Amino acid sequence: MHYIIHTFGCQMNVADAEVLAGHLETMGYSETTTEELADVILLITCCVREHAESKVYGKIGELYDLKQKRPEIILGVGGCMPQQADVASKLQQRFPYLDLVFGTHNLASFPDLLDQVRNSGSTVVEVLHGVGGITENMPRVRRDNLKAWVTIMYGCTNFCTYCIVPYVRGKEQSREMSAILTEICDLAERGYREVTLLGQNVNSYGTDLVAHPDFADLLQNIEQISGIERVRFMTSHPKDFSRKLIAVLASSKKICEHLHLPVQSGSNRILQAMNRGYSREHYIALVDEIRRSIPNTVLTTDIIVGFPGETAEDFEDTLNLVREIRFDAAFTFAYSPRSGTVAATWAEQLSKEEKKERLKRLNDSVNEIALERNKPLVDQIVEVLVEGPSKTDETMLTGRTRGNKLVHFPSDPSVIGKILAVKITRAQTWSLFALPVGMPR
Ligand code: 5AD
Ligand code: SF4
Repeated sequence: MHYIIHTFGCQMNVADAEVLAGHLETMGYSETTTEELADVILLITCCVREHAESKVYGKIGELYDLKQKRPEIILGVGGCMPQQADVASKLQQRFPYLDLVFGTHNLASFPDLLDQVRNSGSTVVEVLHGVGGITENMPRVRRDNLKAWVTIMYGCTNFCTYCIVPYVRGKEQSREMSAILTEICDLAERGYREVTLLGQNVNSYGTDLVAHPDFADLLQNIEQISGIERVRFMTSHPKDFSRKLIAVLASSKKICEHLHLPVQSGSNRILQAMNRGYSREHYIALVDEIRRSIPNTVLTTDIIVGFPGETAEDFEDTLNLVREIRFDAAFTFAYSPRSGTVAATWAEQLSKEEKKERLKRLNDSVNEIALERNKPLVDQIVEVLVEGPSKTDETMLTGRTRGNKLVHFPSDPSVIGKILAVKITRAQTWSLFALPVGMPR
């Protein structure tokens, strides 16, 4: 018996898909990449923007032919889309050939749901809402044997006015610190060298736990785990980024010098309308302090253009913030109204053309600065964790610097999984080229 999981959206979904793969393999399924061979196909969906949803609808449509040919195949849709009001029933109406529709709070009961489908032969729909507590120790098939995703908290309670996440992932719930540390010790024993801690807002980790540990405490404990050499985390929220955390980052040997710190807009008016909880000035002061305490920090961000009511002046404020901060990279998005969120109900929506034009102008600036930030790296020697063959040129290998920059270099596969010193020879906007200079370790 074989399965395929198609994962859309963010790393939270990637982590959830690893758990679903764990359940499926415990039930006797093994993975395939050939749809014709699959007995179960799952789509783990994203609804953060319309574009993400369209891709999912397209994929479900594509699977119709396969289901006609092999009606016994089980097609399931999980993740964030079915958590939205009415979407689970709409999916069923529009695609009656789906066998299973489940949500983000149903991971623990997935084996039971799949059994119900197999035994009844009819469509099973289960989407739980609200908080049901965290289930620890679910089986998990990790997609990588070097770098691991470790979820430290679920959900989000910030309610940024554009964002659907709090509605589909529920309120913030932190995992017990002991459970996280046990998981990371186990990963270290199994040879993992890097962990990325995941949460929608890792800076508020622990506020819901009885002992109130904070994110800085968690990082200090992870620092002690031998075998783990690189620690990353995302996503940080500028409103909750503490001085204590900056001090811990500055003194750590393992926490990598890369921060993903979404700013979303450079206009105070828009930041307020977004309910972000900080001002442009606060963001700039925070970045100044981070850069003073942790030199060479690679800073990346998320920016939305065309939020309802965004004037030409507001947009200019975003552009001049980008020029002032000089991000290493930015993920940029045209605002996409999400049904159920506050901002989607506002009258002052911008046209698609206006959003597209602003996005292009923003991307031009972001890309120009990204290249400028990479150029001074030429001739520098940096350490990369070697991941494997390059996707663009199979004669090359790729790895990531501590700052999370992608580096291509010639070497033989024996260095995969090792940390290697390389000298940067050429800089592009999104990647660097290098030559190995040291012995791998
Ligand atoms: N429209 C456009 N971008 C959005 N994001 C979240 N919601 C929306 C939306 N409705 C972006 C934010 C967030 C990133 C993950 O997705 O920038 O940080
Ligand atoms: Fe969405 Fe804001 Fe929560 Fe991030 S912090 S997941 S943007 S509501």
